[in-house]
Amino acid sequence: MELIIFIGLQASGKSTFFRQHFAETHLLVSKDLMRNNKNPSRRQAQLIKEALRAGRSVVVDNTNPKVEDRAALIQWGQVYDVQIIGYYFKSQVECCLERNQQRLGKARVPDVAIYATIKKLTPPSYTEGFHQLFYVQIVAEFRFKVSSFLN
Ligand SMILES: Nc1ncnc2c1ncn2[C@@H]1O[C@H](COP(=O)(O)OP(=O)(O)OP(=O)(O)O)[C@@H](O)[C@H]1O
Ligand SMILES: [Mg+2]
Repeated sequence: MELIIFIGLQASGKSTFFRQHFAETHLLVSKDLMRNNKNPSRRQAQLIKEALRAGRSVVVDNTNPKVEDRAALIQWGQVYDVQIIGYYFKSQVECCLERNQQRLGKARVPDVAIYATIKKLTPPSYTEGFHQLFYVQIVAEFRFKVSSFLN
């Protein structure tokens, strides 16, 4: 069983990668699906706990830029003793801004949101409790390259 945590700027390709690689096997947990919830962090923790308790693997698809954001998730992986895996979407800011501009409707976020996330973004590290970490890069139209993460 796995608790997978995505880390990356808005429009770095996280949700697209989820659909390509995990939609069939893992439950999607994302604050983007809780826009009307008063306490998304609490709801998110609840969904993670329920899934892991029921034996389902989970992907947490948020920007998760700060060590604290990830610590709140990693603790549940430790409680349920599952593999804790991080995917770090390494993307240039300009590319994210450009992909964001191409999105339609609610999918598009204000540019300031991307700049705010850059300021908060700390790359993940094994010291946080991850069992495995991967880099993800966009290499071509809807093609991702996954490589191992050394730190
Ligand atoms: N490998 C790729 N090649 C080309 N375009 C891509 C690729 N991956 C995603 N995109 C496009 O970039 C935009 C952002 O992708 P996506 O929604 O997956 O990002 P995200 O990281 O989930 O963003 P957010 O954090 O805002 O939810 C989408 O319009 C998507 O179609
Ligand atoms: Mg997304």
